[in-house]
Amino acid sequence: MINIALYKPDIPQNTAAIVRLSACLNLRIHIIEPCGFNLDDSRFKRVAMDYVKLSEITRYSDFENFKNKNNKSRIILLTTKAKKFYHEFKFKKNDFLLFGRESAGVPEEVHTSSYESLKVPLSKEARSLNVAMTVAVVASEALRQNNFFK
Ligand SMILES: C[S@@+](CC[C@H](N)C(=O)[O-])C[C@H]1O[C@@H](n2cnc3c(N)ncnc32)[C@H](O)[C@@H]1O
Repeated sequence: MINIALYKPDIPQNTAAIVRLSACLNLRIHIIEPCGFNLDDSRFKRVAMDYVKLSEITRYSDFENFKNKNNKSRIILLTTKAKKFYHEFKFKKNDFLLFGRESAGVPEEVHTSSYESLKVPLSKEARSLNVAMTVAVVASEALRQNNFFK
């Protein structure tokens, strides 16, 4: 299974869209706290709908806790600061794809703890994608490479 990890997400609708995507594509979700909202927030519920019941969500008190509990897996950071492209990388089953906070990405400590950093190439004028869109693009490639779509 491919794992999606969200670093301190702060926009409920984005996390909710990722929860729905994960329920539909059989991705496992990991939320590194603190989250900028509660999972019973009406904005979250409106987008996640009943898909939350179909998804597997694990929550961690902080990044240390997340790292310790998943120390046998590769953490692949998605960041606009990466030099390498996601579509040239070989993903493995059980990889953790880690996505940054909407307002601030991730701190340096997270960059250095990651096995690899990857980016989605963008047009010159663009700064970044919406985090939920990034999850859809990169998770699809990881699933395709590992034959999850058969
Ligand atoms: C809105 S962006 C955060 C922008 C933030 N200012 C930064 O410097 O990371 C939220 C998250 O989406 C992901 N993201 C957005 N665009 C991306 C891209 N082109 N390549 C890789 N990750 C991207 C990253 O995980 C990022 O931390």
